[in-house]
Amino acid sequence: MKKPISRREFVGDAGKLAAGVMIVPRHVLGGPGYRAPSATLNVAIVGAGGQGMQQWKALLAGGQNVVAIADVDFPYVERNIAGQLSNAQARTKEMGAKVKESYDKAKKYADFREMIDKGAKDFDAVVVATPDHSHAQVAVRAMKAGKHVYVQKPLTYSVYESRLLRRVAGETKVVTQMGNQGHSGDGTRRIVEIVASGVLGTITEAHIWTDRPVNYWAQGIPRPWIVPPTPPVDRGYPEQWAMGTINRAVATAMMGAPQAPPPGLNWELFLGCSARNLPYHPVYHPFSWRGWVDFGVGALGDMGAHLVDQTYWALKLTQPTTIVASSSLWGTGQMIDNDGKPVLGQNGRPVTEPQASYPLATNVQYRFPAVGNRPEVKVYWYDGGLLPPRCDFIPDDFVVRGDGGGGMIIGTKGAITYETYGNNPTVFPKAVADAAAAVPQSVARITDSHEMNWANACMSGGVASSPFEYGTRLNETMVLGVAALRAGQGRVMHYDAENMRFTNAPDPKLPDANQFLTREYRKGWEL
Ligand SMILES: NC(=O)c1ccc[n+]([C@@H]2O[C@H](COP(=O)([O-])OP(=O)(O)OC[C@H]3O[C@@H](n4cnc5c(N)ncnc54)[C@H](O)[C@@H]3O)[C@@H](O)[C@H]2O)c1
Repeated sequence: MKKPISRREFVGDAGKLAAGVMIVPRHVLGGPGYRAPSATLNVAIVGAGGQGMQQWKALLAGGQNVVAIADVDFPYVERNIAGQLSNAQARTKEMGAKVKESYDKAKKYADFREMIDKGAKDFDAVVVATPDHSHAQVAVRAMKAGKHVYVQKPLTYSVYESRLLRRVAGETKVVTQMGNQGHSGDGTRRIVEIVASGVLGTITEAHIWTDRPVNYWAQGIPRPWIVPPTPPVDRGYPEQWAMGTINRAVATAMMGAPQAPPPGLNWELFLGCSARNLPYHPVYHPFSWRGWVDFGVGALGDMGAHLVDQTYWALKLTQPTTIVASSSLWGTGQMIDNDGKPVLGQNGRPVTEPQASYPLATNVQYRFPAVGNRPEVKVYWYDGGLLPPRCDFIPDDFVVRGDGGGGMIIGTKGAITYETYGNNPTVFPKAVADAAAAVPQSVARITDSHEMNWANACMSGGVASSPFEYGTRLNETMVLGVAALRAGQGRVMHYDAENMRFTNAPDPKLPDANQFLTREYRKGWEL
């Protein structure tokens, strides 16, 4: 297929793209006010041990400099660099050597606040790849310091933070990129073109699913005890192994893990803005923090950016008017106060916190208002391995599973399915697939990596492919689903997007759902 315009020329405005309008950025036009692209971008990374290392590698591969790193656990970063250096694949090893060289030269900080406040002169842009609860903290500080930002998905922990990021990005006019790399992919762009062409007829609903957290990280598990549980009464016969018994056994066994942070991990800085001084446990860091309400936003927040994105862009979704969530069991724990001490009830025993670790599987139903000539549409989310109902357009021998996740947009004439990141879009039935194959390309393709797309936009004054203007809206939809999940099973949440409020809350019998649109911050970390 012919490339409409060259790389980096995509402007990530969903509305304009869906309308097939392409804007040629300033660096292509030149003229007054045009700043010639600089040769290299000097980048700082906050959170470099996990996914941040992928951004690091992509930027080095694109010829950029990583000059500063803030991380709360440098031994973890170093273990992962060592892992690359000892990898059997020559290419991985070679890249590992480049990362090691750059790591040795970079200035290192435990506290990102110090890096941004004192070291700002060293860098132009910041990659944020910390656990989710810290994203907004770093991003807002960096943007206010005039730095371009690449922020991992989910962009933020809450709806409030999502809107804050959009506002600060607008005020500071820095170049922003959400780390949903599928947005730069050909598959996502093809889905947008096919849906916009109308070959699927009027869109009525969409279904999106993922197998996460399955096989990746734990959810629905008990929190390690802070104080030992009361031993079960010996009744002279074996205790029945019901759910509570099993949870207690697991939580007790977890107490056997190291209770002190390993050398090199600054646990206080890991907690960051989180108001609660949750005691350290390896069940949180590294990586597994995503399943815990203090730090992550569960499978919907985590994977939605790679899966809801395509439906969100193609259907020009705004914000839902109603949301209903249901789930399997939440992981519970001893309720912990902000000092990290168990809250005791009148009987002197620890009070149970009902929502400590996100449920193993959830379903969220969204109703989105009509836009243009697209009528109201319902979007359904499933995680934990649940799959959507079959669609009549899809033959029985097609297994709707994808690579552990997927999406399905259903119209009156046909349906399109896709895999995670928008890969492998497939149209049903055959006659509609043939019509879809003839739909011309109208959305620009990105030939750079998602990271280099951003770096090039930073250097040339352009707009990256998934800017906050778009990404914060997509993110809001996902974290709204998480808020509805926390508000209670099967509860119809009415959302007033203009005022960022659930309008049927507070209900005196239920928790005030609006509290889940933001969070309590540690003193001094308020946003
Ligand atoms: N786009 C993708 O495909 C993709 C894939 C994986 C992860 N992610 C995202 O990347 C982010 C990081 O996830 P991960 O899997 O790498 O987690 P991780 O726990 O493996 O790595 C997080 C890193 O951040 C560091 N860190 C923690 N708190 C910090 C703080 N306050 N300041 C500085 N550094 C801090 C940790 O020490 C670690 O090095 C998450 O937002 C996640 O959703 C995106």
